[in-house]
Amino acid sequence: MGESPALQVRGLTTRFVTPHGNITAVDGVSFSVTRGETLGLVGESGSGKSVTAMSIMRLVAPPGRITAGSVLLNGTELLSLDEDAMRQRRGTEVGMVFQNPMTALNPVYSVGWQMREVLRAHGQLMDVDARIHDALAAVGMPDPARQAAAFPHQMSGGMRQRVVIAMGMLHRPQLLIADEPTTALDVTIQAQVLALMKRLTYERGTALLLITHNMGVIARMCDRVAVMYAGEIVEEAPVDELFARPRHPYTQGLLRSIPRADQTRGQLPSLAGAPPDMTRPPSGCRFRDRCDQARAGCETHPELYELAPGHRARCWIAQDMAAAVENPNDR
Ligand SMILES: Nc1ncnc2c1ncn2[C@@H]1O[C@H](COP(=O)(O)OP(=O)(O)OP(=O)(O)O)[C@@H](O)[C@H]1O
Ligand SMILES: [Mg+2]
Repeated sequence: MGESPALQVRGLTTRFVTPHGNITAVDGVSFSVTRGETLGLVGESGSGKSVTAMSIMRLVAPPGRITAGSVLLNGTELLSLDEDAMRQRRGTEVGMVFQNPMTALNPVYSVGWQMREVLRAHGQLMDVDARIHDALAAVGMPDPARQAAAFPHQMSGGMRQRVVIAMGMLHRPQLLIADEPTTALDVTIQAQVLALMKRLTYERGTALLLITHNMGVIARMCDRVAVMYAGEIVEEAPVDELFARPRHPYTQGLLRSIPRADQTRGQLPSLAGAPPDMTRPPSGCRFRDRCDQARAGCETHPELYELAPGHRARCWIAQDMAAAVENPNDR
């Protein structure tokens, strides 16, 4: 959209101190999201996606701690706000949707009661019922008055996740963070809920940070993608560019692991090996041990390198290839 970013994250670093060693779960992560844009954050389990989200919300609990970086929300530094000011922004300026709607909803209270509390917590006492009904209608609830009176267990999983999205969007936040929002739903419902979230955030100019390990979801939903591996962003590009020209061998592996319609279950290619032990991350390129293209030089840690406008990769091989294309006579 070419605007100044709603969210700008710079050098974000979050560390856990555990008896087994220190884990830098998020290590110098930088990205931005503009209004109405969807940025996908993708990577294997344990790569640091959720800790990134929790760090932006300042909800990392001890033994975790943000040790460096900057999180600007419309120019305001969230990391230096006091806890009261931060609490005010959670829910109003930043909404969040988690994987399991039951953790976001209280089973003892009706949906409408819980939405009223969200409004009340931020001092919004006018037209409460009308706002709740509007919010439920906006996520496709056929009979908002009836659904507001219902309890979470009386709803299907898909309906519950729609309620959670309605709650996350109740204050029309500038930023919505959705962490695996549809993983618990079956495929058809998943597609509906994703389409709904895309439409709502686009129409309202909300910046959407969408966390998933599913490249298919990324393809359908995102404008740009950041790929995480072992706490770092290893590649970032516009979505079409990433799918057409993945430059990091890890991204190439992730793309090969997308289920295809002509493959039956059990035959899906997947990435060989496991992510590194994060208490002792390897020096140099962290993907080196699993990389089928690794060579001498990869034991030095690569920086994110701009290969083309908006396309960055943390890989020596990708850098060399880009340089060779730019300066063909050097070879
Ligand atoms: N409370 C904690 N104590 C110690 N280490 C933690 C804690 N929470 C997360 N970590 C570590 O931080 C790293 C990143 O975890 P994170 O939950 O962000 O992964 P993820 O990318 O969201 O994975 P998934 O796809 O499984 O949700 C992991 O290596 C994990 O071991
Ligand atoms: Mg996670």
